[in-house]
Amino acid sequence: MKTVICYYSRHHGNTLKVLEAIAQQGDVDLIDVNTRQSVRLEEYDCIGFASGIYGFEVHKAVVNFARQYLPQGKPVFFVYTYGGAKGSAAKSIMNIAAERGCPILGQFGCRGYDTFGPFKIIGGIAKDHPNARDLENAKNFYRELSEKLGGAGGR
Ligand SMILES: Cc1cc2nc3c(=O)[nH]c(=O)nc-3n(C[C@H](O)[C@H](O)[C@H](O)COP(=O)(O)O)c2cc1C
Repeated sequence: MKTVICYYSRHHGNTLKVLEAIAQQGDVDLIDVNTRQSVRLEEYDCIGFASGIYGFEVHKAVVNFARQYLPQGKPVFFVYTYGGAKGSAAKSIMNIAAERGCPILGQFGCRGYDTFGPFKIIGGIAKDHPNARDLENAKNFYRELSEKLGGAGGR
């Protein structure tokens, strides 16, 4: 199974850490939506969208990317990290996916080190996240998802 995950991870690279753990599980390409190359999402069996939570939802750059490039009917999944309150998380992209007839395979979220605004004064929250357990949970999430799709989870 060939997977691509389109992501935005800027605050502390928390989401990227999770994605790198997932990418160890198989044939997974990671695309930073802000350093966009020419993308051909049609070539993949499965498409992930991932981001930190910014203002109670995934970053607009990822939502806009999905709106521009998500092909009809492709299976999708979502990954996000958040300091303490994920809000509506990936709901906007889920709506886009639903409009395009894309089956939603699942979503994975965990906490991520957050020094935004006043949290900086107290040294941040969710300091040690994503931790080893978060990364293990993320790998399990992806393994189960690959099995659901009938693809090889591992190499
Ligand atoms: C501008 C900004 C807004 C944020 N808004 C939220 C929020 O609404 N809820 C939350 O739980 N965390 C929020 N955070 C914390 C991030 O979601 C968290 O640190 C996340 O792991 C960052 O992911 P990244 O390092 O991959 O970018 C915010 C952080 C920043 C910088």
